[in-house]
Parts: sequence; structure tokens; C-alpha cells
Amino acid sequence: MLSFLSISIAVVVAVSTVPTLAANCTDALTPKYAFPSVAQGYSAQLVATGLTKPRSILFDKNGHLLVVQQGDGVVSIKFNDNNGCISSSQVSRVINSQELNHGLALSTDGQTLFASSTEAAYSWPFDPASGNVSGKNKTIVSGMSNGDHTTRTLQLSQKQNLTLVISRGSDSNIDMATLNVSSGHSQIKSFVMDSVRRNSFDFNKDGSLLGWGLRNSVGVAEEPLTGGIYSVENSADDIQRDGKDIHTDNPGEEMNFHGYLNGTKVAQQGANYGYPTCFAAWNVDDIPNKGDLKVGDQFVSGTQNSTINDTFCASQRVSPRLTFQAHMAPLDLKFNASGTEAWIPFHGSW
Ligand SMILES: *[C@@H]1O[C@H](CO)[C@@H](O)[C@H](O)[C@H]1NC(C)=O
Ligand SMILES: *[C@@H]1O[C@H](CO)[C@@H](O)[C@H](O)[C@H]1NC(C)=O
Ligand SMILES: *[C@@H]1O[C@H](CO)[C@@H](O)[C@H](O)[C@H]1NC(C)=O
Ligand SMILES: *[C@@H]1O[C@H](CO)[C@@H](O)[C@H](O)[C@H]1NC(C)=O
Ligand SMILES: *[C@@H]1O[C@H](CO)[C@@H](O)[C@H](O)[C@H]1NC(C)=O
Ligand SMILES: *[C@@H]1O[C@H](CO)[C@@H](O)[C@H](O)[C@H]1NC(C)=O
Ligand SMILES: *[C@@H]1O[C@H](CO)[C@@H](O)[C@H](O)[C@H]1NC(C)=O
Ligand SMILES: *[C@@H]1O[C@H](CO)[C@@H](O)[C@H](O)[C@H]1NC(C)=O
Ligand SMILES: *[C@@H]1O[C@H](CO)[C@@H](O)[C@H](O)[C@H]1NC(C)=O
Repeated sequence: MLSFLSISIAVVVAVSTVPTLAANCTDALTPKYAFPSVAQGYSAQLVATGLTKPRSILFDKNGHLLVVQQGDGVVSIKFNDNNGCISSSQVSRVINSQELNHGLALSTDGQTLFASSTEAAYSWPFDPASGNVSGKNKTIVSGMSNGDHTTRTLQLSQKQNLTLVISRGSDSNIDMATLNVSSGHSQIKSFVMDSVRRNSFDFNKDGSLLGWGLRNSVGVAEEPLTGGIYSVENSADDIQRDGKDIHTDNPGEEMNFHGYLNGTKVAQQGANYGYPTCFAAWNVDDIPNKGDLKVGDQFVSGTQNSTINDTFCASQRVSPRLTFQAHMAPLDLKFNASGTEAWIPFHGSW
């Protein structure tokens, strides 16, 4: 379950030795909500307001903050930095498009901007000096339309040149079309672009499959040292087992590993991660006929039979690397530069 209505951006920065910066910022924006409490070693400041459904943010090489606003397009924000006190000086229009709804990425050289609609991923030539696009859009990947989960997260590899990873969600809470790999539903794929010829991929037919059976993996990240691709998944609502409603504390939300983009294949790459047949257990004691299930093990939703059962789920479907409480709704995933720590924002749902 996801809907995201927010009009402000708070930037949280990790600092190890500096005391809390926000306390010294007399001209900082004051949130209308309770100020977030932050763990030791972090400080937070509200840096922009008045935005329309901001969904993804990233900095270009010159420190412009690019923001994709759902149903609106992309804006760029320039900041004044007064001894660590950040204030926004200027919000500029970059792209006007009601189609754009979530995905945002920049090429490693900072000169191509990517953004996505439900149907397609687009690119624009980008000028880091002005923080603006400098030409028309090209459609890189198309054919992604479906209902319900309509965001198309974009992750541009920092390790493999011109490789774009796209996550596409399911068409409904329990989308049976997902069982057909050719449907393209509930999948993460990568596309290797060619800077010379015109790129024009069909999501369903082209690209490499990194994983399927992924209900709505909104957060995707590349681990910076190994280049491993990870995602975080929003799992299903209304799950029952043997006629018992177990949806409050099941299934768990997931963090999954999908292998590498460099050509070296691991077992998980392109594998099926379970949905809509198998789900990760969170509150095991709530699951009738739980057998040997442990937190994170895949179990059948509904009633087991001679072909589709927990043994099948355990052997034929990939379990998450990490399992989170049901309905926490992870939205993104970012690694630190040494790949030893990652941050996940949880939207919350039920
Ligand atoms: C914030 O103010 C305190 C007290 O004036 C000072 O000791 C500290 O260095 C200041 N922090 C920054 C980051 O300027
Ligand atoms: C950025 O470029 C777009 C497209 O050329 C243009 O419409 C817009 O006005 C530019 N924004 C700024 C701040 O110059
Ligand atoms: C891409 O460009 C075409 C042609 O100018 C325009 O009709 C379309 O709205 C643009 N799409 C986006 C997402 O900006
Ligand atoms: C990636 O592109 C850069 C710049 O064009 C080039 O120097 C480098 O060799 C490329 N790396 C690979 C693995 O192709
Ligand atoms: C699987 O999906 C493809 C693409 O939509 C479709 O052409 C095909 O008929 C589907 N197969 C089944 C068995 O539904
Ligand atoms: C791909 O990356 C993995 C993890 O970093 C590494 O073990 C493997 O050797 C790499 N393969 C190639 C072909 O570079
Ligand atoms: C579970 O399903 C598998 C096939 O997926 C089958 O081999 C096995 O016998 C089933 N187990 C039970 C207890 O029915
Ligand atoms: C087992 O369950 C699956 C899904 O719940 C169903 O598609 C399949 O027809 C069932 N098989 C048998 C033998 O009942
Ligand atoms: C990554 O996180 C670890 C654990 O908190 C920390 O020790 C390390 O300094 C961080 N590395 C970078 C480059 O931020």
C-alpha cells in the first residue's frame, strides 16, 4: 500500500564529530510538524517547502537538488550554505510533465538526466552548470503501463557504464498476471544503453531480468564496492492462511539481493522471489500449520496442496536477505560509500 502526500523535504546528514548543526541555524525553516528526533551523530534541517508531491531527490555535480514531483515534473533547488546552515535560494523549473511520477537518475558523467512515468523511462541531455536540461526527451524504455503500483524506480549503475535498472510493480494487491514472466509485472530488469545508437527498449521483451515475483520494490540500490543490486519490497495486504486472516502481522516486508550487473551470474539473479504465491513470514506464530517456518521463510498464502506448499516456497523461491515488520512500506535504499551501512525510509501503511 502506498500513497505519498508530502510538501516538504528534510535533509538528514550524517556527521561524526560536529555537534547538531540545526540548533545554530536561526534562519532555518521550521516544520509545521514535530521536528524529527535524530540518532546521535546525525543532524536534520528542513530545507524546502511548497513542493508538489516530491517523490525522489538527487544532487547533481554542482549541488543542485533535483526533485521529481508526481504529476508535475522536475524542479531544481539551489541552496545557500551559511556555515552549515542550509537555506534554499531558488527553485527552478527543469521539466514540465504531468506524466512523471517517481523515478529520477543521473548518468555517471552528470550529463544525462533520467525520469519515469508509469509507461516509460525517458532521458534528457543535462547541463550541470545550469542545473537544467538542455534538449528534448528521448524514450529509453517503454511498455510499462499497468494499474495500482505505477511508480518505476530508476537506478543508474555507478559501476557498469550506461546500465539502467528499472523496478516495475504489480497491477493489484494480488496480481495473477505476475505468474507469467512475459507480462513484465512485478519485475526488476536492467538495460544496457548504447550512447551511439538511439536506445528504444520494450520492458517486456528486452533487458536482463534481475528478479521477478517482486510485488512493489520501490527502493533499489547498488552496493558501491561489489556492485550488488538490492531492493526493498512492499509486500501484500489481506493475506490469509487456511481461512485465517493473518494480515496484521504478515507477510514481512523484504530486502532482496539480485546479483551483479557485470556479467557474473549468481543463483538469485533473474530468480523468482515468490509473489503472488509465496510470502516472507513475519509473525510465525500467527500462521496455521507453520511447520518449521522461521521469520523470513517463504510460506504459501491460502491453503497448501501437493504442488504448491511451503516446501515448494522454500526450494523454488528466493527468500529475502532481511525481513521487516509487515506493512512498514520501505520506499528507498541508500548505501554509504563503503557499503557497510544502508538507510531505508519506511512510509508506513496499515
Ligand atoms: C554551534 O554553536 C555552539 C555554541 O555557540 C558552538 O560551540 C558550535 O561550534 C556551533 N556549531 C557549528 C557547527 O557552528
Ligand atoms: C530549463 O529548460 C527548460 C527546457 O528548455 C525551460 O523550459 C526552462 O525554462 C529552463 N529553466 C530555467 C530555470 O532556465
Ligand atoms: C517528450 O517530448 C515530447 C515531444 O516534445 C512531448 O510530447 C512529451 O510530453 C515529452 N515527455 C516528457 C515526459 O517530457
Ligand atoms: C566506462 O566509460 C568510461 C568513459 O567513457 C571509460 O573510460 C571506461 O573504460 C568505461 N568502462 C567500462 C567498463 O566499459
Ligand atoms: C503471457 O504474457 C504475454 C505478454 O502479455 C502474452 O502474450 C501471453 O499470452 C501470456 N501467456 C499466458 C499463458 O497468459
Ligand atoms: C562482478 O562483481 C563481483 C562482485 O564484485 C565479482 O566477484 C566478480 O568477479 C565480477 N565479475 C567480473 C566479470 O568482473
Ligand atoms: C509439496 O510440493 C512438492 C512439489 O512442489 C511436492 O513434491 C511435495 O510432495 C509436496 N508436499 C506435500 C506434503 O504435499
Ligand atoms: C495448488 O494450489 C495452487 C495455488 O494455490 C493451485 O493453482 C493449484 O491448482 C493447486 N493444485 C492442486 C493439485 O490442487
Ligand atoms: C559506513 O558506515 C560505517 C558504519 O556506520 C562507518 O563506520 C563508515 O565510516 C561509513 N563509511 C562511509 C564512507 O561513510
